[in-house]
Amino acid sequence: MAVEPVIYGASERPPRGDYARAGADYTCAQAYDSYTPADHDTYRRLYERQAALLPGRACDEFIAALPSLGIKDRIPRFEEINERLYKATRWEVVGVPGLIPEVPFFTLLANRRFPVTDWIRTPAEFDYIVEPDIFHDLFGHVPLLFDPVFADHVQAYGQGGLKAHGLGACELLSRLYWYTVEFGLIRQKDGLRAYGAGILSSPGELQHAVQSREPQRLPLDIERVMRTRYKIDSYQSTYFVIDSFRELFDKTAPDFTPLYERVRTLPPLAADARLDHEEDVQAVTA
Ligand code: PHE
Ligand code: FE
Repeated sequence: MAVEPVIYGASERPPRGDYARAGADYTCAQAYDSYTPADHDTYRRLYERQAALLPGRACDEFIAALPSLGIKDRIPRFEEINERLYKATRWEVVGVPGLIPEVPFFTLLANRRFPVTDWIRTPAEFDYIVEPDIFHDLFGHVPLLFDPVFADHVQAYGQGGLKAHGLGACELLSRLYWYTVEFGLIRQKDGLRAYGAGILSSPGELQHAVQSREPQRLPLDIERVMRTRYKIDSYQSTYFVIDSFRELFDKTAPDFTPLYERVRTLPPLAADARLDHEEDVQAVTA
């Protein structure tokens, strides 16, 4: 399906959920000229608020790579980011009009292309937005694609997603994505830190995930994660912790086919479930 490129005038914001401007692979050109001064200002303010909260809460790799996003006082162009990203890990970001179906999503990841929503939230959605926008996708996800091991993991996830689709196991695999790529915690030399994009792009969840006494923090166990439901409208009540991105890569490397079969025979667990033998990860405190 070939789609005519659509050029938006300066007064029109990139329309949310207009999938007619996307090609068969669901990607679209970043509708850059359609961002208004208010859109650029929203990005600048979101970036500034979130960057200030990172020390002591975000993992070292994320903080080190954040400047690679480039300009912070307006929405960056995907091409500018790609010049640096492709050199670092051979990944690139591509525009999409919003959430896309699982097969095209996994296909992009398997080809080291990360889909980034091109529109930004309205000022009324400054503190909370239900669906991912450009701030969540760029600020939350892209810095860690500069890390070689994490970058390889996300590609492997895409390949694993295509396989899971064939096995009817996408729901189980999506729980893994949720509790790692979106809401994962990592133990570093100075204590627990966030690496999940859903945490890193949210001021409230960043403090809750790393500092609150409320949630439980369990060591990453793939089978436990695949059994665990998640909540999309509140802070997480359970986080799973890794010690390194190498651990994440290695634990997800084995063939999941027998695991999917076993998990299907087990009852799912609630987001806040706690099993008898489970103990929270002890963070090293500096
Ligand atoms: N190893 C998984 C499989 O065989 C694929 C996968 C890799 C899934 C990395 C998630 C992350 O299905
Ligand atoms: Fe996300």
